[in-house]
Amino acid sequence: MDNNIKVTMMGLGYIGLPTAALIASKGIHVLGVDVQQQVVDTINSGKIHIVEPALDGLVKHDVERGYLKASITTEKSDVFLIAVPTPFKGNNHEPDLAYVESATRMILPQLEEGNLFIIESTSPVGTTEKMAELIFTERPELKDKIYIAYCPERVLPGNVIYELKNNDRAIGGINEPSTNKACEFYRLFVSGELHKTNARTAEMTKLVENASRDVQIAFANELSMICDEANIDIWELIKLANKHPRVNILQPGTGVGGHCIAVDPWFIVSEFKEKAKIIRTAREINNYKTEWVIEKIKNIALEFEIKEGRKPIIACMGLAFKPDIDDLRESPALYVTKSLINQKFNVLSIEPNVKYYKNIKLTALNEALEQADIFVYLVKHKEFIHTYNKQSNQLNFCGL
Ligand SMILES: NC(=O)c1ccc[n+]([C@@H]2O[C@H](COP(=O)([O-])OP(=O)(O)OC[C@H]3O[C@@H](n4cnc5c(N)ncnc54)[C@H](O)[C@@H]3O)[C@@H](O)[C@H]2O)c1
Repeated sequence: MDNNIKVTMMGLGYIGLPTAALIASKGIHVLGVDVQQQVVDTINSGKIHIVEPALDGLVKHDVERGYLKASITTEKSDVFLIAVPTPFKGNNHEPDLAYVESATRMILPQLEEGNLFIIESTSPVGTTEKMAELIFTERPELKDKIYIAYCPERVLPGNVIYELKNNDRAIGGINEPSTNKACEFYRLFVSGELHKTNARTAEMTKLVENASRDVQIAFANELSMICDEANIDIWELIKLANKHPRVNILQPGTGVGGHCIAVDPWFIVSEFKEKAKIIRTAREINNYKTEWVIEKIKNIALEFEIKEGRKPIIACMGLAFKPDIDDLRESPALYVTKSLINQKFNVLSIEPNVKYYKNIKLTALNEALEQADIFVYLVKHKEFIHTYNKQSNQLNFCGL
């Protein structure tokens, strides 16, 4: 495969846009398709709608050179990539494949013999086979005439461009020719190793990567609550335990957030209910940690009120799901802040990475430092580090 191909990227969010931009930077014509007109317009004007270092320059360059174009409609292509959301739905956390299916349906009329169709969205096991079935049901003449594969994304928000290029990839087709074709495609822009497998294993690889992180963080979060009761400094404890050459305990936090780690383990639990015991418990512990943080803050607020005769002003430091990004999806810090606001506490919300968030008034860090009585550090943003000095009115939930 050479650069003389056309690629369509379905979904221009945190994954789709950087991937599309990276491919276009190799001199490959990329059409980015999104259902949001505003996203399409922003990209076509050479700008971006998400915060990701180095992405703005790359997109501007690609658009100016004519290699990247966005649209709300699909066109004929050689390669189609799917990077649309895969949330869960309902109390049983069932995976919601509606976006993947609708994106697949949008490209159905464009598919031609020899095309390569790749799902990058994090997906429950069997999704690629399901989409293959959908394609071959609607377009039976394409059976065995197109290539279909799954290739999960494992980039770190904040370092996406580097990791897209350099991370290893697991690539699994619905058959061997599909795996090989997908590998040829990724070789055009990935310098990390490409590991060949089948679609089901590639799907599960992504899910267990995130479940593994979730379980390890749950261990740290459980320890943090035990240590609080035992009057032991969790941060010191972990530092000491990690001096053991074969121990590596992760850092506890306000909970676990983001589109991946807080979501993907459910895709395993919902499908393998009886077997996925640790994975389920880890999810429950990490969710419980967030409730525990809320209770801690409420207790400190009550103590303040009893002592001072008035309700405290509480500064919630950080809303994002992890340090130094603007992504608030499934964020435990956001959940804590909303919960305190809903319970009528006097809350100042501080999030240096976001200018505006619906229904929550954001306060500048300087103002908060002057006004607040209690500071709850929920996210370890770099702007907060110099403001934390272990005062009794500062609660450190994020390892400052
Ligand atoms: N964000 C991450 O760090 C990360 C990492 C690894 C994997 N993933 C996975 O990648 C997938 C995409 O995640 P994201 O973070 O980029 O999501 P996102 O919400 O940032 O972006 C998804 C985009 O898809 C668009 N969209 C929805 N339906 C569409 C359709 N039918 N056709 C075209 N566009 C459509 C949305 O408008 C949105 O702009 C998810 O499955 C996610 O789990 C995300």
